[in-house]
Amino acid sequence: MSDLLFELVGPNYGLAESEILARIEGLSFDFTKIQTDKGILALKTDCPAEKFSQRLGLTHRLLYLIGITSDEDFFDLMEGYDLSEGNVAIRTRKIGGHEAETDTKNIKEQLGKIISEKNPIDLDSPEHEIFVLISKDLYVGKKVHERDKKALRSREVKNRPYSSPISLKPKLTRALINLARPGRGDRIHDPFCGTGGILIEGSKMGFEMSGGDKDEKMIEGCRENLEEFDVDASLKVGDVSETIPQNIDCITTDPPYGRASSTSKEDLSSIYERLFSSAQQRLKKNGHLSVIFPENKYVEMGKKYLELIEKHKVRVHRSLDRYFCVFKKGE
Ligand SMILES: C[S@@+](CC[C@H](N)C(=O)[O-])C[C@H]1O[C@@H](n2cnc3c(N)ncnc32)[C@H](O)[C@@H]1O
Repeated sequence: MSDLLFELVGPNYGLAESEILARIEGLSFDFTKIQTDKGILALKTDCPAEKFSQRLGLTHRLLYLIGITSDEDFFDLMEGYDLSEGNVAIRTRKIGGHEAETDTKNIKEQLGKIISEKNPIDLDSPEHEIFVLISKDLYVGKKVHERDKKALRSREVKNRPYSSPISLKPKLTRALINLARPGRGDRIHDPFCGTGGILIEGSKMGFEMSGGDKDEKMIEGCRENLEEFDVDASLKVGDVSETIPQNIDCITTDPPYGRASSTSKEDLSSIYERLFSSAQQRLKKNGHLSVIFPENKYVEMGKKYLELIEKHKVRVHRSLDRYFCVFKKGE
């Protein structure tokens, strides 16, 4: 068991927390929560820290938790903590829009005094980075990894050779994939794959991906995008009722909403009904569907077919909310 500290990406902190817990559940590990704060999650888990590395969309940083304190007295907290050899940098972050007066210089000095008794301080090329995350309490941790923002940005829709205005950002795409709780080597299908955003991220995360779209031109463009990012996924032209493989582990999808994305003027309800009934027939037992809807009434519709596990109202653009939901096929 190790104590892990997650610095979450805002403003949808509830979604960021659920993404982490779903990842742990997908890999069949256990956890107990130590403490949560706006933008912060501290957990005790038997899931190794490296299982999260470059897998999460909505975590800025993952750290080994050293301790939590309500004042700036770090002596008790650091007592007995062995950093192992190497240079150390101490950094502070105000989290979740935390506004209280906090003297970050003093925090660095106090902690620096204790740490420099055993390890040299080096801000430029340290072997270890100690972060103090400042929220209602002070969370001290040693960095394990940091989200590769540049890599995520390089795969945004505007940077794909074939693009359309209807694609989710890679960070939200990753969260949606993790919410489907894929385990090691699981297969994930996206029946409304469009330009391939979910297929690209899922492949980069190490899953076996497949996609379908009723629009042949989209599938051609999607193939171009997969090549550009050097990922492999099987693709099929067809309606949502035709492309989902039998006994699939997970379905993750960003369906049409009737705005920019094409529905050939078909009523959204009937497209979503076909998604739910196909998922009910083709998901393996205990398999999950993670999906985004424009209105809550479609979430309610899904309950006729599958068990609703969780739902998050998420701000995807300045004035646009969407429902990120997870359904499970029961025994
Ligand atoms: C919101 S877009 C998907 C965006 C995708 N995540 C991406 O990265 O580009 C919805 C896609 O659903 C497709 N579509 C619409 N109705 C469909 C149906 N009945 N069956 C399968 N695909 C459909 C559209 O052609 C469109 O490409």
